[in-house]
Amino acid sequence: MPAETAPPMTAPLLEVRDLCVSFPSRGRMIPIVEHVSFTLGERDILGLVGESGSGKSVTAMALMGLIDSPGVQITGSALFRGQELVGLPQKQLRRLRGREIAMIFQDPMTAFTPVYTIGWQIDEQIRAHERLSRKQARARTVELLAEMGVPDPARTADRYPHQLSGGLRQRAMIAMALSCNPSLLIADEPTTALDVTVQAQILDLIRSLRSTYGSSVLLITHDMGVVAETCDTTLVLYSGRVAETGPTDALFAHPGHPYTAALLASIPPLDGPRPHRLPAIAGAPPAPLERPAGCAFAPRCSYVHDSCLPAPPPPLVPTDNTKYPSGAPVLQPGQFAACVLPAEGTPLPPRLINTDLSSGEPHQ
Ligand SMILES: Nc1ncnc2c1ncn2[C@@H]1O[C@H](COP(=O)(O)OP(=O)(O)OP(=O)(O)O)[C@@H](O)[C@H]1O
Ligand SMILES: [Mg+2]
Repeated sequence: MPAETAPPMTAPLLEVRDLCVSFPSRGRMIPIVEHVSFTLGERDILGLVGESGSGKSVTAMALMGLIDSPGVQITGSALFRGQELVGLPQKQLRRLRGREIAMIFQDPMTAFTPVYTIGWQIDEQIRAHERLSRKQARARTVELLAEMGVPDPARTADRYPHQLSGGLRQRAMIAMALSCNPSLLIADEPTTALDVTVQAQILDLIRSLRSTYGSSVLLITHDMGVVAETCDTTLVLYSGRVAETGPTDALFAHPGHPYTAALLASIPPLDGPRPHRLPAIAGAPPAPLERPAGCAFAPRCSYVHDSCLPAPPPPLVPTDNTKYPSGAPVLQPGQFAACVLPAEGTPLPPRLINTDLSSGEPHQ
């Protein structure tokens, strides 16, 4: 009998391990991103979420080789289909950025030059990577714009960026990013500037990319609602470090880190009357040089206790929900949190905690 053969292992598209980014300031290095690790599978959508200043954009820019600050120090590893991106020469990074990895930004005006039509700019992008005539490139541009749901794409291609609405410009920017069929799309706050209806359409579009283009997406946002609707996996950054990561469903059902729980509690309810004031997390993240030796969230956490404070920061460990009062789901596969809380036995309510983390007992 032939020996059983194991199914072929497919390597992840992107494997980031221990990524650290520091910038020099007044003769010392300021750590901005510390030991960030995550894995993005083929056709996966991973949400990178965290408050302003948590290091989301710096992480993405470091992966793309787009940080050009003098003296920046980037260490760790980021394997893209097995190829190391950290330390890769700019020439090779540029080639990858055009063909394999594309990025879209919050403000599409920064992606387009105001003096050329958007069609011309997408044509040029296509011709930079494929040997196509102008006519062939334009046909492809119009096709891409149509696929992105742009009405009357041939005429829209002849418009200048400022002649389009915010939503149309965003679609045109995604069309340009997809013009080289990237395996990985990094989208940094792609919907923040848009109204709610257009935001929902753009998120639909991003979700559909994996089936139509086979692309994986790294979606950066500060909005847990966007993550819930769009992402398979979630990575929560706090003050440059990973607070929690795991399958989105598991992490939303049973957050393993008080910071994740607080972010979840700040999502406005979809049904019922909207609260007058959205709960916010009291206090602010520490400045990079003022991060406490232990958990950076400790000063804002209503569950803080002696074990949270000493150095080093808590490592990412599998989230242990066995201590949860409901006793519902136990260990969630793939869910990790940098919190000593579960091991210490102070149970977190599964979904809601007091969002005024500066005071009092948690309540449900
Ligand atoms: N070139 C740079 N030199 C020095 N510090 C920088 C540089 N770029 C970013 N930073 C600092 O790194 C920190 C993280 O910035 P980053 O832009 O990654 O935050 P973010 O999570 O994307 O926030 P936001 O949600 O506001 O976009 C900030 O404190 C910022 O001031
Ligand atoms: Mg940012």
